Amino acid sequence: MDKGFFYSIFGGVFISMKKEIRNRVLQKLKQIPAEEKTFQESELSQKLFHSAVWKRAETVSLTLSLSHELNTAEIINQGLVEGKKLVIPRCQPANRTMTFYPFTDRSSLIRSSFGVLEPDPDVLTPVDPEEIDLIIVPGIAFTSSGQRIGHGGGYYDRFLAKHPDIETVSLVLQEQLVKEIPTEVHDINIKQIYQFKKESSS
Ligand SMILES: Nc1ncnc2c1ncn2[C@@H]1O[C@H](COP(=O)(O)OP(=O)(O)OP(=O)(O)O)[C@@H](O)[C@H]1O
Ligand SMILES: [Mg+2]
Repeated sequence: MDKGFFYSIFGGVFISMKKEIRNRVLQKLKQIPAEEKTFQESELSQKLFHSAVWKRAETVSLTLSLSHELNTAEIINQGLVEGKKLVIPRCQPANRTMTFYPFTDRSSLIRSSFGVLEPDPDVLTPVDPEEIDLIIVPGIAFTSSGQRIGHGGGYYDRFLAKHPDIETVSLVLQEQLVKEIPTEVHDINIKQIYQFKKESSS
């Protein structure tokens, strides 16, 4: 069947299913006990640090996480210790694009309308996207095969569609893992998913 025709009929259903999953997982994320969350984050960060993509990457993109998101502090510290160049995106709501800037120190950050800390474009110079080797892609819900639901702006989908060669990894807490995600034509899969799995599966 023609993809466009199919989408015109089912597109709205997919969008509301994605919204429902996004809200459900967001609620779960906000309820994880702090100690449990820290434990999962450390395990996932270690998986990342031992991976080939991390070891190879000279320039890594990440975000400064909100409290309910996977905490990226350990990744930032390790990246700096290993002498990697860290970059963080700034979202431009007008055209829903992202521009990347070097992460230097917290004094060159400003709080965006969305509540996250972003680079101050008046102080910093953008980085050429071609320089980025690895993006740690944030998100709300994921499947083990790499499908993703983000915050709903389409920022990463747009950027990754233009830069298909950049390596992408998402670190996924147990509460963020779902069996299926109804993907739309513009959704870009994450290349590698590191998911937390409890030792004793019931
Ligand atoms: N490559 C693209 N070109 C044009 N529009 C796009 C593209 N990618 C996504 N969009 C639009 O962006 C909107 C949000 O997309 P989606 O619901 O997939 O967001 P998301 O993946 O959760 O967000 P994000 O990537 O910012 O975390 C949709 O209306 C979609 O049509
Ligand atoms: Mg998407």
